[in-house]
Amino acid sequence: MSRQRYFAYKNRQLHVEDVPVELLAKEVGTPFYCYSTAALTHNYHVLKDALPKSALIAFSVKANGNVAVLKTLGREGAGADVVSGGELQKAIAAGIPADRIVFSGVGKTAEEMRLALSVGIHQFNVESEPELEALSGVAAAMGAKAPVTIRVNPDIDAKTHAKITTGTAETKFGVPWTRARAVYGHAGRLPGIEVVGVDVHIGSQITDLQPFRAAFARVAGLIGDLRRDGHQITRADLGGGLGVSYRHDSEPPDAEAYGRMIAQATSGLDVELIFEPGRLIAATAGVLITRVIYVKEGEARKFLILDAGMNDLMRPALYDAHHDIIPVAQPQPNAPTLRYDVVGPVCETTDSFARDRDLPESKGNDLMAILTAGAYGAVMASAYNARPPAPEVMVNGRQWFVVRPRFTLEALIALDKVPGWLEH
Ligand code: LLP
Repeated sequence: MSRQRYFAYKNRQLHVEDVPVELLAKEVGTPFYCYSTAALTHNYHVLKDALPKSALIAFSVKANGNVAVLKTLGREGAGADVVSGGELQKAIAAGIPADRIVFSGVGKTAEEMRLALSVGIHQFNVESEPELEALSGVAAAMGAKAPVTIRVNPDIDAKTHAKITTGTAETKFGVPWTRARAVYGHAGRLPGIEVVGVDVHIGSQITDLQPFRAAFARVAGLIGDLRRDGHQITRADLGGGLGVSYRHDSEPPDAEAYGRMIAQATSGLDVELIFEPGRLIAATAGVLITRVIYVKEGEARKFLILDAGMNDLMRPALYDAHHDIIPVAQPQPNAPTLRYDVVGPVCETTDSFARDRDLPESKGNDLMAILTAGAYGAVMASAYNARPPAPEVMVNGRQWFVVRPRFTLEALIALDKVPGWLEH
């Protein structure tokens, strides 16, 4: 929805809100990520409106950690779901109040725990018993009690790509729901822990509500059991994971239907609800703009070689992910199409954005937009092949700003230090 509205052709040129992409390409150079403020805030409010009023929406910083993006969402009322001390610092730098920050992840270090306790975050989502003990030790030494939910693994298959499934017994996440009562019992006896609730997250890019329903039913049952065991359960963190539509011809999952499912699943539970959406808010709010370097006629196939590579956008290489690709200059309505493999310049066979994609005939120097790239795009970029990752631009109406400048090659090379014995 938001993509069509905020990334649209006007005067035959793709615009992000009111800014022509061609102008940005001239000013910033390619490749670059471009985010729409209006799309971000729209996506946030669509979800917000679909959920109970008092719910905390903690944007999952891993999906897009740019401080300008976090600040945009924070101003609308969003909190943050962080998985490292670094993400915590970014959320704080963006002005998100600590009492709206939740800390997830299987490998929190003592140092990260101290930082989170000292700023007073809303809660730790604890994933194992060793972590519980470590957190209790750190908190007790500070004379504090850490507010804790325990992430339970409901053993539900989210029916998404195997590499982004987290809620089955096979994965490293959470404690098995069958052992949850014992782990809560343990938590209740630790001096530095204050049990506040239950946490669950079953995976990402989930487009069917049924796995959520099944997981939340288990959580609701568990909350009853835990209360009978004497625990004060006042919060349920139901994670993120609702998917988006990556193809122009597929229907995006509906936030309202998700909201209705949540209302049913949590009715009568009397808990504060917390959500950790990442992709749903950021994905359709960003594009990756790139230029065609060459059109190469292979023996069997035609290649569009772009100046963006898998180092800029890992998703196709890592998860066989589909991203729609469109030309920045709007093609004529009946323009003939050709079948291309759309690839990057990185020396890896997997550096490919699309295979057998029908696109209007393209030539060197054409600008292309890789769509739905606002989540798990820039954050996952690397400098592989000594390619400085793409910079990030944010648009707001007619205004635009480079919210992360392009790394210069000098800065990249200066990161490497040469030992004395190689100096002479
Ligand atoms: N909460 C927890 C505990 C998570 O592990 C995740 C995502 C989220 C929330 C946010 O999930 P979302 O609402 O964005 O689906 N790089 C992959 C996605 C990895 C997701 C990891 N965890 C991709 O590009 O598809």
